[in-house]
Amino acid sequence: MKYGYFDDRNREYVITQPDTPLPWMNYLGCQAYFGIISNTAGGYSFYRDARLRRISRYRYNQVPFDVGGRYIYLRDDDSTEFWSPSWQPTQSDILEYTCRHGMGYTTIGSSYKGIEAYTRYFVPLDENLEIWQLSVTNHRSTRATLKGFASIEFCLWDAQDDATNFQRNFNTGQVEVEDGVIYHKTEYRERRNHFAYFGCSAPSRFDTQRETFLGRYRGWDRPKSVEAGELTNSIAYGWSPIGAHQVNIELDPQETAQFVFVLGYHENPVDKKFDPPGSQIVNKRTVKPVIAKYLSPAGADAAFEKLRQYWETTLGILQVQTPDAHTNRMVNIWNAYQCMATFNMSRSASFYESGIGRGLGFRDSNQDLLGFVHMVPSRARERILDLAATQLPTGGAYHQYQPLTKRGNNDIGGGFNDDPHWLIVGVSAYLKETGDWSILDEPVQYDNEPGSEEPLYEHLQRSFNYTLERLGPHGLPLIGRADWNDCLNLNCFSDTPGQSFQTTTNKDGKVAESVFIAGLFVYAGRELAAIAERRGLEAEATKYIGETEKMLAVINQHGWDGDWFLRAYDDFGAKIGSKECEEGRVFIESNGFCALAGIGLDDGKALKAMNAMRKHLATPHGIVVQQPAYSRYYLQLGEISSYPPGYKENAGIFCHVNPWVMIGETRLGRGDAAFDYYTRINPSAREEISDLHRCEPYVYAQMIAGKDAPTFGEAKNSWLTGTAAWNYYAITQWILGIRTSLSGLEIAPVIPQKWSGFTAKRVFRGVTYSIAVQRKGPGNSIALTVDGEPVAGNVIPIPTDGRKDVKVTGILS
Ligand code: BGC
Ligand code: NOJ
Repeated sequence: MKYGYFDDRNREYVITQPDTPLPWMNYLGCQAYFGIISNTAGGYSFYRDARLRRISRYRYNQVPFDVGGRYIYLRDDDSTEFWSPSWQPTQSDILEYTCRHGMGYTTIGSSYKGIEAYTRYFVPLDENLEIWQLSVTNHRSTRATLKGFASIEFCLWDAQDDATNFQRNFNTGQVEVEDGVIYHKTEYRERRNHFAYFGCSAPSRFDTQRETFLGRYRGWDRPKSVEAGELTNSIAYGWSPIGAHQVNIELDPQETAQFVFVLGYHENPVDKKFDPPGSQIVNKRTVKPVIAKYLSPAGADAAFEKLRQYWETTLGILQVQTPDAHTNRMVNIWNAYQCMATFNMSRSASFYESGIGRGLGFRDSNQDLLGFVHMVPSRARERILDLAATQLPTGGAYHQYQPLTKRGNNDIGGGFNDDPHWLIVGVSAYLKETGDWSILDEPVQYDNEPGSEEPLYEHLQRSFNYTLERLGPHGLPLIGRADWNDCLNLNCFSDTPGQSFQTTTNKDGKVAESVFIAGLFVYAGRELAAIAERRGLEAEATKYIGETEKMLAVINQHGWDGDWFLRAYDDFGAKIGSKECEEGRVFIESNGFCALAGIGLDDGKALKAMNAMRKHLATPHGIVVQQPAYSRYYLQLGEISSYPPGYKENAGIFCHVNPWVMIGETRLGRGDAAFDYYTRINPSAREEISDLHRCEPYVYAQMIAGKDAPTFGEAKNSWLTGTAAWNYYAITQWILGIRTSLSGLEIAPVIPQKWSGFTAKRVFRGVTYSIAVQRKGPGNSIALTVDGEPVAGNVIPIPTDGRKDVKVTGILS
């Protein structure tokens, strides 16, 4: 069953039933001010850091799942009935409920007894605020007298502290109300220079104390002041400051009224905090004109148009037309959009990431680059330099860093031995996209230590050497705390409840090895060699290749199990991911990644490995992590065996690693298989089974329950996952084969047999390529012409004569 439909022309997913299986959400904001919003207006906002600058309060794991948000209520003064046009929180019997999640905005509304009301929520570009534009229309034959209420609950900034430290926090809350604008200024009197505000285009009455607004023992579904039809002008002293505005609405039949609400964040210079100086009153001089600008419907509309343009340009960098509608809308709209969400959020704030736990992952952020580098190259550059500056002098990496401070996160530390290589992968993706070689010469600190600067290129060398200095008994890379699979904790041996599997190292870690890291090392080593060669560093390139060759020999000798690649050796030197194992006999990661890296293409190993994936791991809902699932907890394996079979890393379908197999299949020239795997997990292609899938049909989820799970096919943890980048990369660069390379744009499609071809538009290094690929034969060899001239090979030369529009045709035979 479906809960809505795709409106591809408007780049929207339209939800037509409010009680979706899970809240289906969207992001607002793309620079510094962000919000998450569900299809029933649940969610919260923050400035830069979801933990430390939380603007509005949200309670995770609530009952029902999603309460707390940007709630609007309407009240009919004649009947005294009140309702929420967004369905939540009153859950009234509304008609024509519609939520349109679009690029950076969400519109939600409905009709109730002849009153139609829609609210458009978005964050304007270059501002630290969000706009709620409410329009109310009277479809009755008589005049309507209504009240409208808009409400938000403020968070006392540090979301972790806000949710725990009540003995203090019930005393600190402070607000000011001036000219109809509510200012939330808790802790402004002391060490904060920032405040939040909530303004209204037609202010009348307000409330700022939660209990007064809601009434005792009541929730957001039945606020007392709304029921009464009048706010009380309450001022919050401690407890829970909120912002609630009342607007008075008189509408003739068919008349529409518009209201604008603005929720925002502002920072003052320390020496200009108060106005007048020496008082305790917030200085509002710079923020007042901003509030006024967007409280006018014209100001709000203009900001919305700018946002629309921004997405038009951003998504316009790559647009494709293939015979498959699911591919088109994911590539052209939603998958690209999700990649931008992972760029902005990493793994911090969604409905499954609470915004208080994880900073930006080193591994994650580097991989995310694969999906967004073409859309925001200059911000990708900054991200790379930030990440590299947290690298340790050993070449190792903090597993995470905090976005506000841009420093490595000491709580979790380092020692995840795959981490450093992802920096090479990320930088290489950046170079291929931009050709901006200057980034390699940028001086970058280690561990943010002033004075420790070295060119970025040196950092990459240290990443590579990190593994060479950490080889195990078979000559394979030591795994450390974990590799890509955070739950394969071979040095952990945790028997204490509540310990983090990722942060405990109970062994010295000199035995357990990872075949996955070996494959990654070969892949990254070759990328690094290609970079060195281009810089004219022949000797270094040769050295890197020499080391990857040695590693290949080790993989062949100790990393191959006969029909597939082994996964690892544990702390006892026992095999993981081998026929010899009772459980966990065959794994996706080492096989997918080795094939992706081209390992075993020449001697049949890659072919065998990919066949083993099909035989042992592929299911109609995607490819599971391993088989057989672990039926019990294994002390020597760690978190992977902590999950019940079929969930998460214990034989769940990890949508992040499925693309490795897709790419592996393209390397074997098997376009049908690659595209088949792509379609199995494509959320749009799963829209019809929304009751089973449960997560949003427009974005990927991290995991779909595997075949061992009673809920086989059920997705969890949507939005913030490396799945976004990898699927985007697999379909665009390997299946459609529009591939960036150090020498230019390569065209090397490996598409399904039955496709007659496809077209694409790609803006690359300032040139717009119009690409048309036609299938004339069953194979993958392509004959290219560029502006009518045949070119040899797969790489389209970058025009040297100033041409900005280039026509490329490709004939597959
Ligand atoms: C999850 C992993 C995740 C890790 C991050 C584990 O509980 O299963 O998917 O990478 O936590 O800390
Ligand atoms: C999610 C983490 O963010 C990612 O870094 C990891 O690779 C996967 N889980 C697999 O464990």
